[in-house]
Amino acid sequence: MKTEFSTKESWSLEMDEADELKSFKERFYLLEDAIYMDGNSLGLMSVDAEESLLRVVNEWKTLGINGWMGGDTPWFYYPEMLAGRLAGLIGAEKDEVMVHSSTTVNLHLLLATFYRPEGKRTKILMDNLTFPSDRYAVESFMKTKGYSPGDHLVIFESADGKTLDEKALAHAISEEVALVLLPSVLYRSGQLLDMEYLTNKAHEKGVLIGFDCAHSIGAVPHKFKEYGLDFAFWCNYKYVNNGPGGTGGFYINRRHFGREVGLAGWYGVQKEKQFDLENEFHQNHCAGGWQIGTSHMLSMAPLEGSLKLYEEAGALRLREKSLKLTSYMMFLIDELLAPYGFAVGTPAEEERRGGHVALEHEEAVRINEALKERGVVPDFRPPNIIRLAPVPLYTSYHDVWKVISAVKEIYEKGEYRNYDKKRGTVA
Ligand SMILES: Cc1ncc(COP(=O)(O)O)c(C=O)c1O
Repeated sequence: MKTEFSTKESWSLEMDEADELKSFKERFYLLEDAIYMDGNSLGLMSVDAEESLLRVVNEWKTLGINGWMGGDTPWFYYPEMLAGRLAGLIGAEKDEVMVHSSTTVNLHLLLATFYRPEGKRTKILMDNLTFPSDRYAVESFMKTKGYSPGDHLVIFESADGKTLDEKALAHAISEEVALVLLPSVLYRSGQLLDMEYLTNKAHEKGVLIGFDCAHSIGAVPHKFKEYGLDFAFWCNYKYVNNGPGGTGGFYINRRHFGREVGLAGWYGVQKEKQFDLENEFHQNHCAGGWQIGTSHMLSMAPLEGSLKLYEEAGALRLREKSLKLTSYMMFLIDELLAPYGFAVGTPAEEERRGGHVALEHEEAVRINEALKERGVVPDFRPPNIIRLAPVPLYTSYHDVWKVISAVKEIYEKGEYRNYDKKRGTVA
């Protein structure tokens, strides 16, 4: 049933009252006198994440090296434990997921396995809106294989500069393409791509496909098993609240477990053989086989507490609230801000939307600064986008109302004119 929204403040308060997920907000360290709208960049710390981190810190203090087998969950099996729980968020089997390293490094290690140019099929298909780190990774990786990006990287150009048309994308998968690499959710507009459709199209043409899920993990309850994609990778520091630079993750469809790992290390060895320290690489036949080195225990420990919150709240209920919050925000933008030249850059259809809203305005840089001065934490993305992420675990409907009302006031009072048109180093 569609929710009827209202511009009245009292409506937002009534929605909060009725919100069955409202108590989760109390489990987070909210910034003092601030409304946090940047959970799509860095999620907030929860009490639960702090507890699991401190527990592991204490295990290090009291157990030293014995923590590898003697921790609450022995550290040696800790990434497997976390991965098994993360699998629930993406609809994968437990052994298809691994918690490991960072987004870009994981992309490199997946390319080393899945980019296998052969005969006419030498190209990688990407899009021009993807987060640039992925492009840097692909271009540099291609060069190590002796392929020039100029000749072997195909960039699909968005028609409107904001979104990607899946049909046109599918059409661009030519017989020269060896691998398709796309984002699940576009980092600027927040468009959620139809991963299942694109996977089917790539596979119909005999092409492998992988997704950067940094902006969907924890925001969109995926069904990787159903989509059938070949691989995915992500960070856990955005919606999954694993802390700054916290360990990321990857997914490898089990149909690829027999493939040889491209960048091997001793953590990819079968667990029971790892400490035999043989010179021969006995590859673990699961996603764990793609690990390289020792688990970053302190950078993954917060994930344990964080996942507890997801398991309690339920990914579907969170998605439902997230869509209500973003729809409400888009409604308020249309009602209150459109007359001042603001526009929504995020798809209106729920099934095409991730977890944030792109608010567009030619004065976005300065309005973003004025918002920060008022205690709102948004972020700016060039050329004209203020990204606002009402994260369902810790954002209320009233927060959304206050933020959009603040933008309106900032514009009406001309407060943004007090700021430079220059963005900060970290925007
Ligand atoms: C979509 C996307 N991909 C990749 C990255 C790079 O992530 P990392 O710094 O963890 O490698 C980011 C960072 O924000 C991102 O948003």
